[in-house]
Amino acid sequence: MSDPKQMTTTGGNPIADNQNSMSAGPRGPLLMQDYQLIEKLAHQNRERIPERTVHAKGSGAFGTLTITHDITKYTKAKIFGEVGKTTECLLRFSTVAGERGAADAERDVRGWALKFYTDEGNWDLVGNNTPVFFVRDPLKFPDFIHTQKRHPRTNMRSATAMWDFWSLSPESLHQVTILMSDRGLPIGYRHTNGYGSHTFSFINADNERFWVKFHFKTQQGIKTMTNAEGEQVIAKDRESSQKDLYEAIERGDFPKWDMKVQIMPEKDAETYHINPFDLTKVWPHADYPLIDVGVLELNRNPENYFQEIEQSAFSPSNIVPGIGFSPDKMLQARIFSYADAHRYRVGTWYEALPVNRPKSGVNTYHADGPMNAGYSRSSDAYYEPNSFSGPQQDHRFDEPPLAISGDADRYNHREGNDDYTQPGNLFRLMSNEQKRQLCSNIAEAMGGVPQFIIDRQLAHFDKADPAYGEGVRAALKLTQNTNNISVQEEPLPAPANA
Ligand code: NDP
Ligand code: HEM
Repeated sequence: MSDPKQMTTTGGNPIADNQNSMSAGPRGPLLMQDYQLIEKLAHQNRERIPERTVHAKGSGAFGTLTITHDITKYTKAKIFGEVGKTTECLLRFSTVAGERGAADAERDVRGWALKFYTDEGNWDLVGNNTPVFFVRDPLKFPDFIHTQKRHPRTNMRSATAMWDFWSLSPESLHQVTILMSDRGLPIGYRHTNGYGSHTFSFINADNERFWVKFHFKTQQGIKTMTNAEGEQVIAKDRESSQKDLYEAIERGDFPKWDMKVQIMPEKDAETYHINPFDLTKVWPHADYPLIDVGVLELNRNPENYFQEIEQSAFSPSNIVPGIGFSPDKMLQARIFSYADAHRYRVGTWYEALPVNRPKSGVNTYHADGPMNAGYSRSSDAYYEPNSFSGPQQDHRFDEPPLAISGDADRYNHREGNDDYTQPGNLFRLMSNEQKRQLCSNIAEAMGGVPQFIIDRQLAHFDKADPAYGEGVRAALKLTQNTNNISVQEEPLPAPANA
């Protein structure tokens, strides 16, 4: 329809009346031929897509990464090609556990999903506002997530399930300590740091490999809330982080982060005293200092939240030449999991949607399928290899071989692994006020949890630092005295290993 003011059907036909259904007489039943009524109701029934199984509640904005420092000796990735280079990006923040309608101001990890529209396709860095994670073996990820979601019988969140799982999984202690610290409840996304968390690889022009970790440090400063302040916010506003981000960008107060990397030469990984591919560990800055890279700025709100944020689909499998994976088991599983989730949640051609579509072009032989909006090749070159000048592979993009050895087996990742030093280091660097908040947040979060589970978890705090365990014990006493908590959340038989 050439006149933009004329309302039309989705078939482009002019609509004469969008106020009154067609009926047999003014009071009569409706006519089957009022197709636009049927179409309107049918379309409404299809307005929702499944929400993300995790990170369902989120907010996003577009922006740019500007390179301020030369790191080309570590990577040939074009995004880092020269100082001053800018690349468009999308950043979707999220909470993890809550559903799409959950309140923003909840104690939770914040998702930090970045999509860089680079000259060589999309690079997705799907991280969190924490440098570590709760588990180090992906076999435990669905179990962990079940503890964060609703109990199948009560349909309520279960503190018992969370602390049961965490106390039986000591590798979670580092992330639990961050979650329960002041940083577990940011006042908004602008005031969080972002971390790629995993170890990735950089490959330079000489085909040398380095291991790398990505960091984004907020220029807005870390700002956090206490539980009580969070409750006040939620009582008035469930979209506090969305509002904070949206309004800052609308008023031109563009949030910025300093991008930094830690670099480990490939060979160091064999001898470094920490397994650099263990997602429950950081690389201490004293060993691998932060190196400046650039500035990330968010400066454009989405025009349509559903199209650009709800349908955005990020995947650690999207990497570009010069940036690669690492043997981190969690990363390896995520390379599969995300694209699989998108095919289910958004559809086969999710990467053809404008928000997900690479700006550098796509030359693929994938064909047909539901909602194919134009990637299939219509020329004679619709298979490969072909004699009709179709696109071809290019070995210039080969990565250097990665030396791997060992017998295929299920190795016990809890054996001989130090789960306590780094959480202890984190506890020790906190101010007295941060320690007090940490212990009191833990005590509050343990309300209603059976004593044998609390005792098992207290033993982990003790091992990280005796003062940590003592602090939580004191806070538990205080909470129990204040609230007179004596009932358990749900009656549980003590298991044999309690
Ligand atoms: P450093 O003193 O060099 O660094 C301490 C880091 O801790 C800083 O990055 C700081 O972030 C961060 N931090 C401070 N308070 C908290 C908190 N409540 N929750 C999460 N992070 C916090 O020490 P190390 O590099 O030796 O690391 C010591 C401990 O710091 C680690 O065990 C780890 O728990 C934590 N940490 C380390 C990181 C790393 O990459 N090495 C990254 C983040 C945390 P900021 O500068 O923004 O204030
Ligand atoms: C979302 C799986 C670990 C960060 C998701 C989704 C899945 C998933 C299936 C939903 C995707 C969608 O429907 O769009 C997994 C698995 C993990 C894992 C299997 C471990 C084996 C992690 C880790 C991080 C992380 C370690 C951060 C370092 C995120 C973020 C999102 C997300 C930020 C939201 C992305 C968005 O904004 O759309 N994860 N995850 N996940 N995950 Fe993970």
